[in-house]
Amino acid sequence: MKATAIAPSNLAFIKYWGRKNGDLRLPTNASISMNLSSLLTTTTVEFTSSLEQDEFELNETKYDYDSKKVQRVVKHLDRIRKLGQIKSRARVVSSNNFPSDTGLSSSSSGLAALTVAAATAANLNLSEKELSILARKGSGSACRSIPNGFVEWLDGDSDQTSFAVSLFPPSHWEIADVVAIISNEQKEVGSTEGQESANTSPFYETRLAKIDNKIKKAKSLLEKRQFSEFGEMVEAEALELHAIMITSSPSLIYWQPETVKMMKLVKKWRSEGLQVYFSLNTGQDMHIICEKKNIAQLTANLGSVPEVKEFIVNYPSNGTSITNEHLF
Ligand code: DP6
Repeated sequence: MKATAIAPSNLAFIKYWGRKNGDLRLPTNASISMNLSSLLTTTTVEFTSSLEQDEFELNETKYDYDSKKVQRVVKHLDRIRKLGQIKSRARVVSSNNFPSDTGLSSSSSGLAALTVAAATAANLNLSEKELSILARKGSGSACRSIPNGFVEWLDGDSDQTSFAVSLFPPSHWEIADVVAIISNEQKEVGSTEGQESANTSPFYETRLAKIDNKIKKAKSLLEKRQFSEFGEMVEAEALELHAIMITSSPSLIYWQPETVKMMKLVKKWRSEGLQVYFSLNTGQDMHIICEKKNIAQLTANLGSVPEVKEFIVNYPSNGTSITNEHLF
């Protein structure tokens, strides 16, 4: 059977950085995110006995079977084949409507879409929790792209307790995440590798000592929709993440000069009265959050910054869903 899924990428307000179990992708702490309406991966999967090995095509490029990208897909398909007791190989065709590997979390939408498309093609009848657990093993942040809206990846200690749940539907809060693309350069060190060195930072212990309180506070501000306090927390969290990265061994510097320029601009716009806050992941591109009423002003400002090549406006969205519009 053939199945197609559409999955959103997500922005973590409180980040997943570091794991207590690498094989199972169990994070050291809980994280909180929002699904992004305009950063989408669509993936079609078909298991077929006519193939001798799995095939993977992304954005119309067919990758070598031995490449890292394809091997990650094959490993994930193996998990699904095991659950469905399937022997046949699969054709996987995938398409991102945004740049891949520049820090916009294409692995979250990619592995979430692959999970739901492949599990459906394999005729597995999995619950949202089971899909989130499965997606997590492919890419940690992908487990948060399964449920709807504003999401928490629970701090579980085992395979069956580490999954994401919806905290609020997308309609809970009229906020936006405007992604400013300042470079299409691909990052040198992927998140998977970077995550492994998180605990080499001398500041990592300090982060972990405070993280449970941070999660509680973030949930409460989210519930009460207190934008400026929430934004301050989100921005401080992104800077803390990068403080850990910069002081890890080897050090990880994901910023470009334009990233720093943007950080300063966001602060300047704020000092002029525009309530905007930034967040960053493993890449140079920037997420800027604002209330819906301020989108026009923010996008007008971004339009006049020469370093911003493109910007993408995202609203809170549902998680991963099935569609009948197959890619082949
Ligand atoms: C900085 O989920 O990409 O975006 O589990 O190895 O696939 P893997 O890592 P990944 O890491 C995301 C890191 C982050 C923070 C976050 O999204 O929580």
